[in-house]
Amino acid sequence: MADLRINLGGIESPNPFWLASAPPTNSGYQVQRAFEAGWGGAVWKTLGDPIINTTSRFAALHLGSRRVVGFNNIELITDRPLEENLKEISETKKRFPKHAIIASLMVEPRREKWHEIVKAVEAVGVDGLELNFGCPHGMAERGMGSAVGQQPDLVRQQTEWVKEVAETPVIVKLTPNITDIRYTARAASQGGADAVSMINTINSLMGVDLDRWLPIPHVDGKGAHGGYCGPAVKPIALNMVAECARDPQVGIPISGIGGIGTWRDAVEFLLMGASGVQICTAAMHHGFRIVEDMIDGLNNYLDQRGIASVMEIVGKAVHTYSDWNNLNLNYKVVARIHEETCIHCNKCHIACEDASHQCIDIVHNEQTGRETLVVREEDCVGCNLCAIVCPVEGTIEMVEVPTSLPPLSWNQRQAALAANEDRETG
Ligand SMILES: Cc1cc2nc3c(=O)[nH]c(=O)nc-3n(C[C@H](O)[C@H](O)[C@H](O)COP(=O)(O)O)c2cc1C
Ligand code: SF4
Ligand code: SF4
Repeated sequence: MADLRINLGGIESPNPFWLASAPPTNSGYQVQRAFEAGWGGAVWKTLGDPIINTTSRFAALHLGSRRVVGFNNIELITDRPLEENLKEISETKKRFPKHAIIASLMVEPRREKWHEIVKAVEAVGVDGLELNFGCPHGMAERGMGSAVGQQPDLVRQQTEWVKEVAETPVIVKLTPNITDIRYTARAASQGGADAVSMINTINSLMGVDLDRWLPIPHVDGKGAHGGYCGPAVKPIALNMVAECARDPQVGIPISGIGGIGTWRDAVEFLLMGASGVQICTAAMHHGFRIVEDMIDGLNNYLDQRGIASVMEIVGKAVHTYSDWNNLNLNYKVVARIHEETCIHCNKCHIACEDASHQCIDIVHNEQTGRETLVVREEDCVGCNLCAIVCPVEGTIEMVEVPTSLPPLSWNQRQAALAANEDRETG
């Protein structure tokens, strides 16, 4: 069994799986049950001034038989009094001293307010703080949450205010509702943050009721944009984690969040630079016990590779994530169809005809008397579309075709052209 313990910016936990700040971490009862189930840490539901929530507040995107591909909410921070939350944090910490309890915080953009709440939560024994600069609805309209997270100067300043008094590590949770998350991540780092976490939810409108002409969800006839999360946001979150991980100006650990539901998702985030992961929608959808499979899966993955500690894989794929300009233009793959498993649905042919390079021919096979799909490899651009639409996994394989050309990136090509021009004009 591998060592699953992590250290994220100074916060230690028995495994990398934390519950994200959200309904599953709303009370001591829930967090204690989660720890019993195996979760390594919990970011408590955001604390702040008592808040009034609306009914209704959640909506989901279902695709075919797959439920909750995306999830949307207009919930605000905790609606329970601060004193009650603090009492339960203290009790939970005493029962589970080795588990990580992180207080998520959001207050008015005033220095004294930040100092006040930091001192209050640290007094009850939290292991760290997470500043919620990411919530996109309700609080943002009042100058908090993503209203801060969208402005690097505010991120830097409010992180500094917290760091003036904080004695435990400070994680800054960022919003994805921004053009380039590296700027706010850098600002958090400059403000002294010990780590960043990403992503919070993405602005979204889940749907419109066709009978009543109302947004989904609506509150007594009106709706508002909500925050989007769940499996659908994973690629966005993973890119943001990877972009920050490879940016030397960010330079602090990352807690990865967004669409993580299996150990595989978690490993992807770890390989792309996260030192731990947080999970919300999957726990809301399937309950706390999903963590058992995550722990088992991660353990097996590491054991099979002879890796002793989960921390050893953190960031191991980051160097492979680059800019388009550095990709090898002379690398070539083509589609190859395995006739044995093809069910002759023609989906690949249609996709290639209509949306790619018209290079899958339908050929009459004299021997079998059937039609066969054949790729004209010299015309295939290796776009992957046919393999993506093929309903039989593995029937279309993308294979590398060796070329006699040496690797050449756009940057190298341009440099070579410029050098040539210099020679000719020089
Ligand atoms: C109903 C709901 C309430 C949430 N409340 C908070 C919150 O109070 N503070 C916070 O930082 N994030 C909050 N989030 C965002 C999650 O912590 C997390 O960043 C987001 O859901 C992405 O992770 P996921 O795809 O695993 O759900 C909330 C999310 C949901 C769905
Ligand atoms: S990879 Fe693209 S171009 Fe090649 S056969 Fe498939 S769809 Fe056509
Ligand atoms: S999409 Fe796949 S199964 Fe369908 S015809 Fe093409 S190769 Fe065969």
